[in-house]
Amino acid sequence: MKVINVVGARPNFMKIAPIQRLMMANENFTPILLHTGQHYDKRMSKLFFEDLEMPQPDIYLGIGSGSHAEQTAKVMMEFEGICQREKPDLVLVVGDVNSTAACSIVAKKLHIDVAHVEAGLRSNDREMPEEINRLVTDAISDLLFTTEKSGTENLHREGQAPEKIHFVGNVMIDSLVNNLEKSKNSDILSRLKLEKENYILITLHRPSNVDDKETLFKLINLFADIEKDIPLVFPIHPRTTKMIEMHGLNDKISAMKNLHLLEPQGYLDFLQLMRNAKATLTDSGGIQEETTYLGIPCITMRENTERPSTADMGTNIVAGRNVDYIRKLIGKIIDNDWKEARVPPLWDGKTAERILEVLANYRG
Ligand code: UD1
Repeated sequence: MKVINVVGARPNFMKIAPIQRLMMANENFTPILLHTGQHYDKRMSKLFFEDLEMPQPDIYLGIGSGSHAEQTAKVMMEFEGICQREKPDLVLVVGDVNSTAACSIVAKKLHIDVAHVEAGLRSNDREMPEEINRLVTDAISDLLFTTEKSGTENLHREGQAPEKIHFVGNVMIDSLVNNLEKSKNSDILSRLKLEKENYILITLHRPSNVDDKETLFKLINLFADIEKDIPLVFPIHPRTTKMIEMHGLNDKISAMKNLHLLEPQGYLDFLQLMRNAKATLTDSGGIQEETTYLGIPCITMRENTERPSTADMGTNIVAGRNVDYIRKLIGKIIDNDWKEARVPPLWDGKTAERILEVLANYRG
């Protein structure tokens, strides 16, 4: 089976790495690793290939940034020619970024089968660009691999044929399991003079949190309040850097003496930061899952989550942008008062194996 494995943006790399590796070692598969170049900075892309020991992409489209329409259209135009040339049996896409939706549309219009890994997740918030990407990709995919119960239920509710849906668990946790030992060699804690379990790790990049000045201002004021009690570590996404600059908030950031503002970190350094943190304060999707696996308290600065098992079973609390509530939750974390949590089923490091098993028996 000739498969094009698509990556585009940072959260895709850890999902494809275990699948690409197993396919390369299995004579029944001929994988082609294609990177759209949606993310292109060394710290948003190359560093992850190195940390995850992924081979260089076989094909690099070099799309870069742009408006949603521009970025999606550019990926589609480039990817069409690649599909016509390579004639793959299957295109495998992961997650919910613009590259995911763009490549699945192109493949389907060329009558190529599409597999979507991390299917069925729904925030039910159509103002989130990722929600549109999820809906479009799932609607046209031939194989739908789900990470958690809600994903399977959502797809059933949307009328997807049951034989397309395969509950295989969370492939991002495969990467976490594979790299946990290695991350212990990272010297990031000593470099930053951080004490284990005595800092809060922050990530923030959603357009709904950073594009609007008032919201961003409110969140930065919240950080300024929290840093009086506990150090903060904040690896900052390029979008957020731009917005802080654009909204004239740089001075507020530099006035915080207990804040470690970092460039985007590689996979291993970030893993080391996450597993030793007292808690994380985030608007990321993947971090909600990784902290649930690691048993680290997580506060999600969003009104909803497409990953409800992290909140129902895991360590996550979806707090919205209610800064008073978030402040109260941070107090509970400092007092070691957090909920009991469990790891959702099949988040066991073996998801890529299960995906390959389904693919090996797939007849299209
Ligand atoms: C994208 C995904 C989002 C994911 C996030 C993880 C979509 C719609 N969004 O958001 O789901 O959570 O990646 O990071 O696909 N930029 C750089 N260097 C880079 C990449 C981006 O400077 O390597 C800057 C550019 O100014 C760009 C902005 O970041 O305009 C946003 O990048 P973009 O790819 O549009 O979306 P993200 O916010 O990264």
